[in-house]
Amino acid sequence: MKLTDTQIKFYKDQGYLIVENIFSKEEINTLKESAKIFEELKFSPNVICEKNGSIRSVFSPNNKVDSYDWLCKQKRLVEPARQLIGNDVYMYQFKLNNKKALSDECWEWHQDFPYWHLDDGVRFPDMVSIMILFQDTTILHGALLFIPKSHKDGVVDFEEKKHLQIRKNENKKNNLINSLNNDLKYTVKKDLIISNEENIAVGEGGIGTCIFFHPNLFHASNSNLSPIDRNTAIITYNDIENLPSNQDRPDFLCSRNYDAIKFEEREINSER
Ligand code: SIN
Ligand code: MN
Repeated sequence: MKLTDTQIKFYKDQGYLIVENIFSKEEINTLKESAKIFEELKFSPNVICEKNGSIRSVFSPNNKVDSYDWLCKQKRLVEPARQLIGNDVYMYQFKLNNKKALSDECWEWHQDFPYWHLDDGVRFPDMVSIMILFQDTTILHGALLFIPKSHKDGVVDFEEKKHLQIRKNENKKNNLINSLNNDLKYTVKKDLIISNEENIAVGEGGIGTCIFFHPNLFHASNSNLSPIDRNTAIITYNDIENLPSNQDRPDFLCSRNYDAIKFEEREINSER
């Protein structure tokens, strides 16, 4: 799938692009079904749980489940990523984010690039993330919220979190992974969200919709007070010439496989 010039221009100007119907309902249902295996793998380091025990995120699901390996190599994702970045890409990070029905789990306002730049040593924001909606998603389900054009400001000031500063001094390793729970390490200074109040947009869409977003876009998401689970996959591609210089974080957070992705033409296989 190739993006049109108008779509590319829109992304560059707004910092996001929503494209509906990239994946079929059948494909998404196969992906959802195959994610059930992670319930049995809750104690793996790449599976992050909420305090109530439900799964918040699964990192690198492609290493365990074939249908996720299939997903991240799809031409429908890789070709637009190449167009938006302007070079060959490799997969930097892949995560599944779940929000249980009727729960108060949320994501604070943040940019993604500070983690990749400050913690992993990636120089340029020549990256793109793609969120794939696993069900019809509205604001009621805790859809992605974002501020269009906020990617143009580069990395902005963080909200100071004193309790995280104390933890940082205590344990470097914990500091590198504590961005995974609902107390994010780098959050956008509240004043910047307040001054953009009028501009907040919602990433709503039907099952199989993809939201492409820039690593510096301010984004967040609310709790899911609807009676159905909100599940999503977020795949980040990076320019093959923009490699990280630090290897402190585990490779399920910052991939060490820098090979340019080759498209996979086969159909999704629910058996593997
Ligand atoms: C994220 O910012 O990585 C997650 C946002 C979400 O799952 O709503
Ligand atoms: Mn994010």
